[in-house]
This record gives sequence, structure tokens and C-alpha cells, in this order.
Amino acid sequence: MSVVSGFSRTQVGIVGAGPAGLLLGHLLHLNGIDSVIVENRDREYVIDRVRAGVLEQGTVDLMRAMGVGGGLDRRGLRHEGVHISFGGRRHRIDFAELTGGKAITVYGQNEVVRDLIDARIETTRPLYFNAQDVRVSALDSPMPVIRFRHEGVEHDVQCDFIAGCDGFHGVCRPSIPEGLLTIYERTYPFGWLGILAEAAPSSDELVYTHHDRGFALFSMRSPAITRLYLQVPPDESIERWSDEAIWEEMLTRMTTADGWKPNVGRIVQKSVTPMRSFVAAPMRHGRLFLAGDAAHIVPPTGAKGMNLAASDVLVLAHALKAFYETASEEWLECYSTVCLRRVWKAQRFSWWMTTLLHQLPGESRFDRQRQLADLDYLTNSRAAMLSLAEQYVGLPSEVLFTSVGLQPRLPDPSPG
Ligand code: FAD
Ligand code: DHB
Repeated sequence: MSVVSGFSRTQVGIVGAGPAGLLLGHLLHLNGIDSVIVENRDREYVIDRVRAGVLEQGTVDLMRAMGVGGGLDRRGLRHEGVHISFGGRRHRIDFAELTGGKAITVYGQNEVVRDLIDARIETTRPLYFNAQDVRVSALDSPMPVIRFRHEGVEHDVQCDFIAGCDGFHGVCRPSIPEGLLTIYERTYPFGWLGILAEAAPSSDELVYTHHDRGFALFSMRSPAITRLYLQVPPDESIERWSDEAIWEEMLTRMTTADGWKPNVGRIVQKSVTPMRSFVAAPMRHGRLFLAGDAAHIVPPTGAKGMNLAASDVLVLAHALKAFYETASEEWLECYSTVCLRRVWKAQRFSWWMTTLLHQLPGESRFDRQRQLADLDYLTNSRAAMLSLAEQYVGLPSEVLFTSVGLQPRLPDPSPG
């Protein structure tokens, strides 16, 4: 039972210490704006959760400019292209050549989160893990409040603004009164079974595979760890899949006519994720601003989720900086509109990548041929390859880094 009460005051209360909440906290810190971050899980859980792996060029540039790109520069894997495999053949799309030198970087979300938690702790600004019973209230008043219990103490944090960065299952979006949000949603009749394996990646770049038995994806986390995904039914139980069955299916779908296939190794993590497209609009109610998965979900095929979280908070940091410096609410007013333009383009791209590459249950012979024609066009037309490349490496940012006081930085020189 809690016995003590703690009242505090901050400029921006941030709910959730995922990529969105931690990036926002650091951007605000760099601009001298106070924040309190409240997370309901413990630190190990937040770091160990295996999720995204692909950072757009803009996300990499942002982390570097924020001074949190050291780990990324040392351990991230820069990829200048990607393979699309169908009919047993791999076709390379050369991002760097098509986009004037842009690339993606493979760096696990858990590494991103670990680096950002370290940076937060160094600032000595408040970050509560294991917060219980987190609630937000007075959202349309000038002083919204975050309440939670931490180590037996009830906390009331009075804020100028609250950033709802608490993911799809968080408390912020459901705290907006009913009827004010429009929800756009699509679920898919499949999910992804993902594994991490102790096996050296057998390709330097990702391979997205279209196969009659369903989609498969080859990715990696380090020179010793391969990350692989398989299309499975949406409600598939992971218990149904022995390690042998997983490898057999991976190899069946991914092996190409030239003999390329993933290396097999000990599976150290496996799980099934459902797929959905979801947008809640507007991304604001009063003084609550939603960012990242709290406001939108994309199916993972385009690798956009974490990158969208980063783009949202860059716009939000810019809007908050403008407010504190000039008392202008102009950017806060257009936060949702600005973010949603990018969100919808990422939704369209992720939906297109998903429907291009997955086996669609109940599809007709016509649907199948259309999908193959789309793949044939994609891998033979420079215009189509350029379109994929510019979206995959990331569309230009809505706001300049200089608008949040950042200067673009070159990568840290690698040791040795
Ligand atoms: P989250 O990471 O969900 O963080 C929200 C935080 O809020 C969590 O720490 C949570 O514990 C906390 N929280 C929840 N409820 C509360 C509460 N009541 N009180 C306090 N805290 C709370 N994206 C990419 O960009 N590239 C990829 O390659 C990619 N691959 C993916 C692969 C898979 C299998 C999956 C599942 C996702 C993938 N994504 C990818 C998506 C990406 O992981 C998410 O979009 C990203 O985590 C969103 O960040 P966020 O900070 O908005 O939300
Ligand atoms: C990974 C995840 C994705 O959703 C994707 O499209 C590419 C790579 C990954 O986890 O490495």
C-alpha cells in the first residue's frame, strides 16, 4: 500500500520509454526543456524486447546529430541495397546508386533503446521504470497531470504538455474521450514468426522472399546473429513450431536457384507477431500529443514503425521548442496534420510491400499473376526500383534538424 505522496512539476510529461519517448526526452533536453519519463515496465524488459532492426537514413542522421549515434556508428551495419527474391531468383535494388548515396542501417531497436536510456541517465533527468497504475487526466486543461505509483509512492506530475509515447496498448490514446478520434484500421490474415539464430548472415543485405508457401524475410543483427521471419496464420501458436520445422520451412522458402540460403544455427529467440495497419486521427487532444505506435501501427514489411516514431517526435520537439521560445502555438496546432502526411505515405508503402510479397489466403489466379507482374515490373524498371528505394531509405524529414537546434554530424570515426 502506498503511504507517501509526491507532487512534481515539469514542462513535458512523457508516458513510455520506447524509441518515441526516449528520443523526445533527449531532443527536449538538448533544447533545455524539462521532461519526466514514466515507463510501466522494468529496464531489462524494455531493452531486451526484440523488435525492429532497420533504421532509415534520416533516423541515423538524427541520432548522430543528437550525439547518441556512437553505438550505431560502431556496431550498426550500413546496407546500400536490398534483395527481392521471387521465382527462385534474387534481384538487387541498389539504394545508394538510385538515391544519391542514401542507405539504411541495421541496428536492433533494443540497442537504440539501450543507448537512449544511457544518454537519459547521463542527463540526470527523471526516468521512472516499473511505474504502476499510470493514468493521465485534465488533458484539455492548461495543466494536464500524469499519476502513477512508484516504489510505494503515489506521484502526481503536473505538466504543461503530455506526450503519449506509450505504444499501441498504452493508456494515453484510450484516455481521449470517445468520439473525438477517427480510427482507420486494417488487419491482415497472417502474422510473422520471427527468430534470432546464432548463425553468421549468409548475405550482406536483407532478402525479401515471395514464395508459393508464403513470405519469408532474411535479416540480421550482427556478424554472428541472423534474424529471420516467416509468414504464418495470424493466430499461430509458437509451440506448434519445433526448431527443426522452422529451419525446414525457412530453407524451403528462401533457398534460391543459385544455391543461396541462410546459414542454420541455434535458435535463441522465437515469437509470433500479428500484422495490422492502424491510424488514430488527430494525433492530439488538448495538451496530449500522441507519437509513434500510440497513434499508428504499420505492418512490419516496410520496416517503417520505429522510423515513424522518430519522425513524429522530431516534429513534436520542434513544435514544443517554438512554443517555449516564442509562445506561438502554430506548430503545436499543425503537429497532427504534418505527421499524418508522412504516416499515410508510410501506411501506403507498408501495405503495398505487404500485399506484394505475402500469400493472400483465398487469392484468385488473377491476383497471383498480378502480384508476379508487379514483382517483375519492380525488379526491371528503374522508375519502380527508385520508387521503392526512396521510400525504403526514408522520405525527407518534415522539419529541418536546425529547427531543433541540431547540426548534421558525420559518423564517428571507427576505432582502428
Ligand atoms: P513502443 O516501442 O511500443 O514503446 C512504448 C513504451 O511505452 C513501451 O516501453 C511500453 O512498455 C510503454 N508503456 C505501455 N503502456 C504504458 C503505460 N500504461 N504506462 C507507461 N508506459 C507504458 N519498425 C521499424 O522501423 N523497422 C523495423 O525493421 C521494424 N520491424 C519490426 C518487427 C517486428 C516483429 C515488430 C513487432 C515491430 C517492428 N517495427 C519495426 C515496429 C517498431 O518496433 C515500433 O514501431 C516501435 O517500437 C514504436 O516505438 P514507440 O516508442 O512508439 O512504441
Ligand atoms: C527487420 C524487420 C522488418 O520488419 C523488416 O522489414 C526488415 C528487417 C528486422 O527485424 O531486421
